[in-house]
Amino acid sequence: MRRKLAAGNWKMNGESTALGELEKLATAHSAPGVDILICPPATLLHRAAQTVSDSAIAIGGQDCHPAQSGAHTGDISADMLLDAGATAVIVGHSERRENHDEGDEHVRAKARAAIDAGLLAIICVGESLAEREAANTLDIIAGQLAGSIPDIVTGENLVIAYEPIWAIGTGKVPTLEQIGEVHDFIRARLERRFGTGVGRSVRLLYGGSVKPGNAADIFAVSNVDGALVGGASLKAGDFSPIIQAL
Ligand code: G3H
Repeated sequence: MRRKLAAGNWKMNGESTALGELEKLATAHSAPGVDILICPPATLLHRAAQTVSDSAIAIGGQDCHPAQSGAHTGDISADMLLDAGATAVIVGHSERRENHDEGDEHVRAKARAAIDAGLLAIICVGESLAEREAANTLDIIAGQLAGSIPDIVTGENLVIAYEPIWAIGTGKVPTLEQIGEVHDFIRARLERRFGTGVGRSVRLLYGGSVKPGNAADIFAVSNVDGALVGGASLKAGDFSPIIQAL
């Protein structure tokens, strides 16, 4: 049985005052039946980890560099995330792939570095609107999975987040059938490459305009084990009902 996961990605949002939202979340979910993860901006990581230290909420990074250390101005290594109190990291988010020109090979190296450091790697995949309209969604997902996932994964160190790019921050959500089709496809690909043991134990998250009003329907879809939430994770009042819908 896969444990459900509600993950919040704050992206480039949140200063010191945002820690108050984290406190509210920790209080509201003191005995959660699901895993809860918040990925704040790097500047808040350490204080966020301290804020939730007595709670069941985990803290994650939004990206890491493939190298352990070195001359990489502005970058953060997986070991540094761990040192700051993170237990997970998102890699290959479409905003990183697009804004920083990150390809599958680079994402794979980041995921490997994260896993080597002992972090849970959340690898994001997803198609653009043009790719969906050209009926290329499953080919795109297949390529991203093959290229971005390192060979060393298990159900304990890997989560895949399916995020259609056109659904991120737009209020548009795929139909439940479309979400189910892609999640079933990802599950089948994982089982084919890693065997049924690992393939069935990796958790699959849906991401893209998840809100309190649509979360329960999305979570009822086959092979959806939780969500990677952007905008609606910024306020405890929005994220709590999503957690409760799991
Ligand atoms: O990482 C989170 C996703 O990009 C989803 O963002 O919930 O604001 O659409 P969103």
